[in-house]
Amino acid sequence: MYRNHTCGALRASNINTEVTLSGWVQKTRDKGFMIWVDLRDRYGITQLIFDADRTPKEVVEKAKTLGREFVIQIKGKVIERESKNGNIPTGDIEILVQELEILNAAKLPPFTIEDETDGGEDIRMKYRYLDIRRNPVKESLVFRSQVTMEVRNFLAQEGFIEVETPYLIKSTPEGARDFVVPSRMNEGQFYALPQSPQTFKQLLMVGGLDKYFQIVKCFRDEDLRADRQPEFTQIDCEMSFVEQEDILNVFEKLTKYLLKKLHNFEIENFPRITYDYAMKTYGNDKPDIRFGMEFGELNTVVKHKDFKVFNEAELVVGIAVPGGASYTRKEIDKLIDWVKRPQVGALGMVYVKCNEDGSFKSSVDKFYDQDDLAKWAEATGAKTGDLICVLSGPTNKVRAQLSALRMELAERLGLRKPKEFAPLWVIDFPLLELDEETGHYHAMHHPFTSPKPGQMELLDTEPGEVKANAYDLVLNGNEIGGGSIRIYDKETQSIMFKHLGFTKEEAEEQFGFLMDAFEYGAPPHGGLAFGLDRLVAILGGQETIRDFIAFPKNNSGRDVMIDAPAYLNENQLKELNIRLQLSDNK
Ligand code: AMO
Repeated sequence: MYRNHTCGALRASNINTEVTLSGWVQKTRDKGFMIWVDLRDRYGITQLIFDADRTPKEVVEKAKTLGREFVIQIKGKVIERESKNGNIPTGDIEILVQELEILNAAKLPPFTIEDETDGGEDIRMKYRYLDIRRNPVKESLVFRSQVTMEVRNFLAQEGFIEVETPYLIKSTPEGARDFVVPSRMNEGQFYALPQSPQTFKQLLMVGGLDKYFQIVKCFRDEDLRADRQPEFTQIDCEMSFVEQEDILNVFEKLTKYLLKKLHNFEIENFPRITYDYAMKTYGNDKPDIRFGMEFGELNTVVKHKDFKVFNEAELVVGIAVPGGASYTRKEIDKLIDWVKRPQVGALGMVYVKCNEDGSFKSSVDKFYDQDDLAKWAEATGAKTGDLICVLSGPTNKVRAQLSALRMELAERLGLRKPKEFAPLWVIDFPLLELDEETGHYHAMHHPFTSPKPGQMELLDTEPGEVKANAYDLVLNGNEIGGGSIRIYDKETQSIMFKHLGFTKEEAEEQFGFLMDAFEYGAPPHGGLAFGLDRLVAILGGQETIRDFIAFPKNNSGRDVMIDAPAYLNENQLKELNIRLQLSDNK
């Protein structure tokens, strides 16, 4: 038996018990006559003491050879600790060791295995198994497991059944590129890895399963960011005989359940705002509503003077920064530089200080008087002591820029509190989105999303105006889930494909199986998928999903530990019937 207790289990009540423990050496302190070792496992740390007077001599000698991260087993007696450590649960006791076995020696780790490590991101990823030994990473993985279990509990209680769908499939368009897998047995042909199980879950509804879920890996070849990985996990769900309201209710209940279970956080009904309102008020379809700083559109109160920049702008819009009137000229200039960075792309920023005495001081005093500025303050909700930041330009661009500024300022002002949770639904998304580069429309959610009732006719005349039965769940400024009510008849689905630029043949070739299924009694259905990695990260008070994934990829999509992706050898390529230029494959 390697152990009869873990390293986090023993307390004062265990004093005088003989125990066997196994674990890793966190650190050793050798005072000559006395050696202390911190023994660590997943559950905690227990202090061992090797005392020249009370521990056999050869055991003390062996203890002197221990290095960091050695794996050892000890037998000994639990004794009361002389200097207690109130910071750890086992801090009242220590183990007076009688026997020591070195189960495995260890090389010196390339970074310290402490909560605060000296290892940079690259080295930690290369030795991720050592990184996982550190508390913050381990705890993130434990937390992820808790969330996943709770999700399963909840969905099982609600009558959902978990069904696995295949990974080797044909393209499912979710807006990214596919990862593809060559088929050895079918020369020249490729599988695509699922961007989501979308079509399969719809087919499960045609199959009569009624309530499906799956905690499932999805694969998307897209540019990576803090909240995006090329392979990530969804809590994927689908339900039959439901309307939007039914789905929102179930998944609102799930989110409340998780907040209560994991944080004892209770919240009333989630606000629901339309996509149009979100864009107008926050410049963003995933607003962080933990704080205000809502947009105030100023077009009606700025266009009557000779200020050309505003007169020519499609949209002039501002936000009130709490307490910002005290910013120095230098601080404001820095803010202006920030919005002018290429990542944000504003051409400039107008500002108004709302002074404590009720007067205003603006960067455009030449054009606007106190009465004008008072109207700006009213429109942006600015109070005395605030700073109004105003941007202008083409509507979509300026909204995105001001949204970026709003989030940046909130971060700097400490308004994005990680332990506060502000979920909301964004509903009534547009069905189609114009790709400004190609001039073509594509599905904003995916091509299987149904338009709102009575809006099909608009598809021919004003495609950009058609609203979809689509919704997103937003938590603390992150899109953690999205879904829609689906099209479930062949004719509507064919019309959708036509509007998305598919020829009849292309639609048939790619999605004939789905449209066929629609002819065999498809029930009305809809669903949603949560991004599990994002959900876990945000519930864990963070936004970088990498920290909640055991073996994540870096920003170039590489796993630096196993060094993937990698080249294939000639024989593998031959077998797969892939002919590359020799120079391509080193
Ligand atoms: P969607 O594409 O909105 O919908 O994805 C659902 C949720 O998955 C998460 N997500 C990601 N998380 C990490 N890395 C990524 N690269 C990534 N991409 C998406 C987001 C997102 O809200 N089939 C539909 C769902 C449906 O209609 O039922 C779908 O996949 O949190």
